[in-house]
Amino acid sequence: MKTYNTIKELQKELEVQKQKGKTIGFVPTMGALHAGHISLVHQARAACDIVVVSIFVNPIQFNNPEDLDKYPRTFESDATLLEEATCDYIFYPTVDEMYPEKVNQKYDFGLLETVMEGAFREGHFNGVGVVVNKLFEIVNADQAFFGKKDFQQLAIIRRLVEIEKLPVKVMAGETMRECDGLAMSSRNVRLTEEDRKFAPEIFSTLNWVNENMGNQSPTELMEEAMKKLSVHFKPEYFQIVDGLTLQKINKWEDTNYPIACVAANLGRVRLIDNLELNR
Ligand code: PAF
Repeated sequence: MKTYNTIKELQKELEVQKQKGKTIGFVPTMGALHAGHISLVHQARAACDIVVVSIFVNPIQFNNPEDLDKYPRTFESDATLLEEATCDYIFYPTVDEMYPEKVNQKYDFGLLETVMEGAFREGHFNGVGVVVNKLFEIVNADQAFFGKKDFQQLAIIRRLVEIEKLPVKVMAGETMRECDGLAMSSRNVRLTEEDRKFAPEIFSTLNWVNENMGNQSPTELMEEAMKKLSVHFKPEYFQIVDGLTLQKINKWEDTNYPIACVAANLGRVRLIDNLELNR
């Protein structure tokens, strides 16, 4: 496994591999890797000849300076995990390497970006769009792998690929969970011991909604779920949406693909999760 810090060097190496006819699988990350990321690396390994993982904490997608400042940076242990997962190349650029000039690019993701994360984190998806487009241009992968935990991000990236007419195939990986149901996230390490005990309530609330679909409307369930979460969390939203448009539904008949999405603050840590509901 080799680590590259510059675009030029990485591209030179990937060009050699492409000349040999090798396919490239790409897993973009912000580091602080956990089993969710590693499962995406395994997916890429199984589907492509060469696996590239980027580690870049992208400043322009953080709307909260404290979140950016406290975001865990664990390059050494990340590199060990990636070596074990038989990754071929790590791309680990500096902010200056990625953004030598001020970024002015603006995307229009339509209604996909006006709801949920988009409504609560101003500019977040534009920052994701800019960095993912740049990474896609640099790596020029055949397939790129993203986790379903960031369900709205996945929809935005699919839209980005349409807008930019990129040749990459976007693949989704299942959310990985701790034994008690907490969705794996790089931010989980910031939970206090006390808060960690409450954290699985997000997943149990999602499951409660799934189990009660038969006897309550989406609107009633969303309200109840917010109340349940409010005991230990400061929930930002709990929405039942159509899995393609991400727009809130009022009646079960409004969609064939209902998904419940939630964001809630626990202490100073913001957690998100989602669950595809079984009709
Ligand atoms: O999901 C993430 O870790 C980031 O949002 C991504 C896709 C690597 C872009 O910075």
